[in-house]
Amino acid sequence: MSNNTQAFDEWLRTRFVEINSQLEVIYWQQEDKANVEFVGEQFKHQLESEGNAHIRKLLAEGNTDEGFDRAFDLLGNVGLFMAACRRHEITEPSRETTSPLVEASALAMHIGASIGVTPRFATAHLTTHNKAVNGLYKRFTDLSDEKLFIDYNTKGILAYKRAADALLKIQPLGISHPLCGELLKVAKQALVDVIESNTALYNQLDTERFFFCVRPYYKPYRVGKEIYRGANAGDFAGINVIDMLLGLCFANEPSYSQMLVDKFLYMMPEDQQILRESMRMPSLMDDFLASGEARHTEWFKTNAKLFIQVCKLHGDTAIGHHNQLVSKFIAQPAQQMQQQHMNKVTASGPPLHVLLDSLEQLRDRRAAAKRDDIKTRYHDLTQLKQWVGN
Ligand code: HEM
Repeated sequence: MSNNTQAFDEWLRTRFVEINSQLEVIYWQQEDKANVEFVGEQFKHQLESEGNAHIRKLLAEGNTDEGFDRAFDLLGNVGLFMAACRRHEITEPSRETTSPLVEASALAMHIGASIGVTPRFATAHLTTHNKAVNGLYKRFTDLSDEKLFIDYNTKGILAYKRAADALLKIQPLGISHPLCGELLKVAKQALVDVIESNTALYNQLDTERFFFCVRPYYKPYRVGKEIYRGANAGDFAGINVIDMLLGLCFANEPSYSQMLVDKFLYMMPEDQQILRESMRMPSLMDDFLASGEARHTEWFKTNAKLFIQVCKLHGDTAIGHHNQLVSKFIAQPAQQMQQQHMNKVTASGPPLHVLLDSLEQLRDRRAAAKRDDIKTRYHDLTQLKQWVGN
């Protein structure tokens, strides 16, 4: 790591966190906690000038040729700085046509384009690829609710990835292979882990703290002239690998493929590769349905039962995400929020009701719910359940 990269990383792990945390204290004391205008100006100025001083040196150094991991990490650090500037409205995409953080934008675009990801910080930077030093990983603030949120996001993502890995391993073996059942059991356990982790987050996270002090760091911001949507815990391939390999969602359905197209560059390149490959794979659901003549065999009954249980659990993770996490921590507090701040609620930009509607459709596809307006696997799963006598 170059000296300049190291110095910037140290600043991010210390001063950056101090300044953000101080600003959070100031905002929190106000009656309107969502207001950030004309408060804490000297801290905002410190944040911007100290961050820019580091970035100026890095840009001049022009050295991104230290391997993928280093480049990705540096992009994350620049991104955390830009996201904090957006949170404190040092920058505001609707006010500007190009980011006032000219040097940070240039550095982010240089790195992002060279490694094949968006030029902003992504979920992986804070979760699965966030190196801890003496037990402390990178964060925006020292708030315990932020730590809780990142810990449980990481846990959920890692568990979804375990489920996806197990399902991918079934592909070359086939559904009648003696070890297919073992892999379906691994997927089941991993999805149970997602549910438990999300339930713990639901019970422990403070709604107001999350809504006013954590979520705002995940807003969209400009890099150069483009606005990049906020990071969310879904920006990894595993969740969609599960959707498609189970056969609950379809890569050739317009709204689903639109979502995949939109998220590609927010994922690590290795995840982009996995997602591309799984978009071309047949689903387990289709494999089981096509093997109907074997429905009285032991292998079919055992494996199809396990498959149905995996589908049920995947649906339950989506129901929990939507009906618990999104509802408690986004939809309900947004209803109470002052109208003037309403257009700033979601991380991805669309109005809240549009976002909620698309998340609801995803939930119902994953849960194979009975719906007439969108394609779900309700009837196919019912057929499979009848075959195995469920
Ligand atoms: C996407 C809310 C935690 C998985 C989203 C979106 C919202 C949201 C509103 C839509 C994207 C956007 O805002 O732009 C929340 C809240 C959470 C939370 C309020 C907790 C306080 C988690 C956790 C996971 C997760 C722990 C587990 C890995 C996903 C996935 C997506 C997503 C996979 C992408 C859309 C999808 O495929 O369903 N989340 N989330 N979320 N979140 Fe969460």
